[in-house]
Amino acid sequence: MGNNYAINKAKEQDAQSLVSLLNSAYRGESAKQGWTNEAGLITGEVRTNEENIIQLINQPVSVFLTCTNNQKQIIGCVNLQKHENKLYLGMLAVSPLLQGAGIGKILLLAAEEHARAIDCDTIYMTVISVRKELIDWYKRHGYADTGIRKPFPEDDITGKHLQELEFAVLEKSLKGFPYFRQNLQFMDLQQQFEAAIAESKSLSEKPSNDTLLQLYSLYKQGSEGDVNIDPPANPFDFVAKAKYEAWLALKGKSKEDAIKEYIDLVSKLKV
Ligand SMILES: CC(C)(COP(=O)(O)OP(=O)(O)OC[C@H]1O[C@@H](n2cnc3c(N)ncnc32)[C@H](O)[C@@H]1OP(=O)(O)O)[C@@H](O)C(=O)NCCC(=O)NCCS
Repeated sequence: MGNNYAINKAKEQDAQSLVSLLNSAYRGESAKQGWTNEAGLITGEVRTNEENIIQLINQPVSVFLTCTNNQKQIIGCVNLQKHENKLYLGMLAVSPLLQGAGIGKILLLAAEEHARAIDCDTIYMTVISVRKELIDWYKRHGYADTGIRKPFPEDDITGKHLQELEFAVLEKSLKGFPYFRQNLQFMDLQQQFEAAIAESKSLSEKPSNDTLLQLYSLYKQGSEGDVNIDPPANPFDFVAKAKYEAWLALKGKSKEDAIKEYIDLVSKLKV
């Protein structure tokens, strides 16, 4: 499988990468390579700066989740802030050239996971009200326009507004859904698989060895099909032997079934 995304909490040393990502996704010529951005609404290349991001990383109520690729580069992010039982979602961004491939949805899902983990039953956000294509996207993923509008004054960090702008407040209630997978109906199976792989790396508790073997074998069967390696040469390498045998035991299971079982297993581990 080509893409192997991971969701992590940003640390202070990630601040510069986050600034670059956010500025490139929101503003200026680079942002225009993505499908939605603020380049036509606000001048300049700057959405935020390092000081602002470090402050958000270090605030106790705030966390930045990052999505990294195989090379451990930060290609997506979202800032989440707890305010009583609600989670504020902001600074959602995906690298412009990688947009449209499901990474935004992985981050929305990760935000919901985080909300549940810290006992928030609602996620809310402010979106520039004229960004119809973006608001439509959020609506497709369960957010509703509350009808509330908030002023969007110009600040010292970012550029000039090219027209009068205001924020729409969108909200999604997480109540009444059994667990995080209510979003998965919007993702195809491969995207769900990638989201589950990313989620498996941030489980709050380390699974038992048996479960880890199950995860490993379903991952291999789902991504590569029937076992395609020789048994380990060293009979005393018990870990390699157990992994090999677990994968071998799934021989004949279709990739699709293995992927579905992998997603189910990760979702159970997240509860
Ligand atoms: C908003 C953003 C995070 C989405 O990330 P992404 O990785 O592209 O998201 P996904 O690939 O999961 O989803 C893309 C969606 O856009 C849709 N889309 C793609 N091109 C589109 C276009 N030209 N017009 C409208 N919708 C489009 C896709 O159909 C898909 O919709 P679906 O989820 O209903 O299937 C990303 O575009 C971004 O970083 N934008 C700049 C920063 C920003 O504006 N952030 C939000 C501020 S509130």
